[in-house]
Amino acid sequence: MFQTIQSATEMQRHADDLRRKGKRIALVPTMGFLHEGHLSLMRVGRQLADELVVSIFVNPTQFGPGEDFETYPRDLDTDLDLCRREKVNIAFTPSRSEMYPENYQTSVRLDELPNHLCGLSRPVFFTGVATVVTKLFNMVKPHIAVFGEKDYQQLLVIRRMVKDLNLDVEIVGSPLVREADGLAMSSRNNYLTAQQRPAALSLYHSICKARQLVDSGIRESGRILSEAVKIIGAHAENDIDYLAICDTETLDHVDVIERPVLMALAVRVGSVRLIDNSVLEPNRQDG
Ligand code: PAF
Repeated sequence: MFQTIQSATEMQRHADDLRRKGKRIALVPTMGFLHEGHLSLMRVGRQLADELVVSIFVNPTQFGPGEDFETYPRDLDTDLDLCRREKVNIAFTPSRSEMYPENYQTSVRLDELPNHLCGLSRPVFFTGVATVVTKLFNMVKPHIAVFGEKDYQQLLVIRRMVKDLNLDVEIVGSPLVREADGLAMSSRNNYLTAQQRPAALSLYHSICKARQLVDSGIRESGRILSEAVKIIGAHAENDIDYLAICDTETLDHVDVIERPVLMALAVRVGSVRLIDNSVLEPNRQDG
């Protein structure tokens, strides 16, 4: 049976009940406007637990001033239909005042991981994410929580936070999902005009080029990054936020690729900020 819950205390009571009955709970935290990428997370959660909870909450604390909190796409009715279709048990849809009541003043902040990649241009982002995810864990009491590898740095931040705070939740990463033309799925793709699509696709094309260079034996990350800059910079509407080849755990810059490394990028296509990433493997065997 599918149900929606808005209240934090009702969610906690329900979670306690499920746990008492020996049910395993999986949580997929989302900000709604669900797409195939989210559905793939739900399918992973469905497989790993008895009860699947999807939270839908556009979290204001992870948006900085001038970012797209107000205009972030929202369509709760369609989201709930998709949840029903994916056999979600509970859609947890707290209001802003339920999540952050008057006089709210606590946050969860990491010292190091946010000082890289997205954290540099979005200084409040990871504190907002770590805080809301901690709160969601305390409300939904999941055994397992599923996050997308598209938000690679977010996944690292959550894993670190769970370890550091001894949170009793297993974090499961799920692979990035692409549209048929290669664009990484994102609720923000909805903002793109048809004219901006080729510019948006240049992120994926730069990753494909990087893989090709690594497969052909190139190991200098500077050379790979300059090819990527050429591909992305060929579109006038693109403004690169960052383009990095870095360690898959610390996110520190890597000069010479001698082990699997993360290529991560964020680009503003007009006013739409898109991210993408891929692990580059120097000794990849095809087939
Ligand atoms: O990845 C997202 O959609 C959000 O950052 C999350 C994890 C739901 C927290 O608001």
